[in-house]
Amino acid sequence: MTDMLRPSRRTLLKSAAATAALAAAPVFAPTRFAVGQTAKLKLGLMLPYSGTYAQLGEAITNGFKLAVQEAGNKLGGRDIEYAVVDDESEPAKAPENANKLVNRDKVDFLIGTVHSGVALAMAKVARDTDTMLVIPNAGADAITGPLCAPNIFRSSFSNWQPAFPMGKVVADRGLKNAVTLSWKYAAGEESTGGFKEGLTKAGGKVVKELWLPFPNVEFQPLLTEIAAAKPDVVYVFFAGGGAVKFVRDYAAAGLKDKIPLVGPGFLTDGTLEAQGESAQGLETTLHYGDGLDLPKNKSFVEAYKKAYGREPDVYAVQGYDAGQLIAAGLGAVKGDTGARKDLVAAMEKAEIDSPRGRFTISKAHNPVQDIYLRKVVGTENRVTGVAHRALADPARGCKMA
Ligand code: PHB
Repeated sequence: MTDMLRPSRRTLLKSAAATAALAAAPVFAPTRFAVGQTAKLKLGLMLPYSGTYAQLGEAITNGFKLAVQEAGNKLGGRDIEYAVVDDESEPAKAPENANKLVNRDKVDFLIGTVHSGVALAMAKVARDTDTMLVIPNAGADAITGPLCAPNIFRSSFSNWQPAFPMGKVVADRGLKNAVTLSWKYAAGEESTGGFKEGLTKAGGKVVKELWLPFPNVEFQPLLTEIAAAKPDVVYVFFAGGGAVKFVRDYAAAGLKDKIPLVGPGFLTDGTLEAQGESAQGLETTLHYGDGLDLPKNKSFVEAYKKAYGREPDVYAVQGYDAGQLIAAGLGAVKGDTGARKDLVAAMEKAEIDSPRGRFTISKAHNPVQDIYLRKVVGTENRVTGVAHRALADPARGCKMA
């Protein structure tokens, strides 16, 4: 689904009708329509609005729009126009969807997405067309690794980032033998890989790796395998609707009180109302959590609740920070997207006052951020400590042009 709300002034200018209208206008007619930075800024939101990640896409959109609203509904002094695409978390449709936003809608920024496979295709389109891309979730390590580029930024995390610290957390508790389980695609592979790296470094080992295809939720046979393997701990990567079902199934299978279940915080973020009792006490690692005693977090939570009538989650924060990052870049160049070098430099130098805590942008354009340890209490992922302070993704293979 593509929903262009209105053509930009720039697009209108190109049309014969607009040219005629201008020609007929009095000589003192404003010439600002011809100046790039006063045309509307076109933002292409490519996110999942259907499927297992639909709620994540909504939260990112809400967070992003809140940041824009707080900036006076302008970025770099320019009014905003959105083009919106539901990417369905479907990698096969991603090149066409991204190309539509770039070539047909002529967006100034591509913003998306949740699913790593879709984001990898977006990064390719962004590189091929030299379009600015800001990723408000998808953690695909390659995007701030071998595929890193001056025009590509991430306001979220790399899949390695929240996963790696959990390895040490469990090993330090004497939980040395782990089974991992995930959807078999980039995010699951890299998340379980990051955990394995952290665990191995801390003296533990992964005794079994279990997989199922995205977005499959037939967990029963895998739960049977876990029960038979009797590991000290189970690490899983699931998110959205799939995470809701997995946590419920794990408890229903009687495993919750027998084998500790851990994961990156996506397992319990934005999902707790639906998970209820089955999630109580679960511990996860993530770059955001509830109850962070920071002025920015408090004002953000209040503003988000007021605007949308619900609590924000990590996805809302990442969308909000994507808006803040773009605002920082465009503010520095007064909305002139043609000043690409200065725009990129300003985004690289930005220190984002995030609800998660202030963060900077690494050389590979990924947040350098604290990874919190959280525990589920009621409908909160309460922060109980810091699992790794100021963690930068290793950015293996990134050679910034
Ligand atoms: C991803 O595909 O990179 C991904 C999806 C959902 C999450 C986190 C990462 O919650």
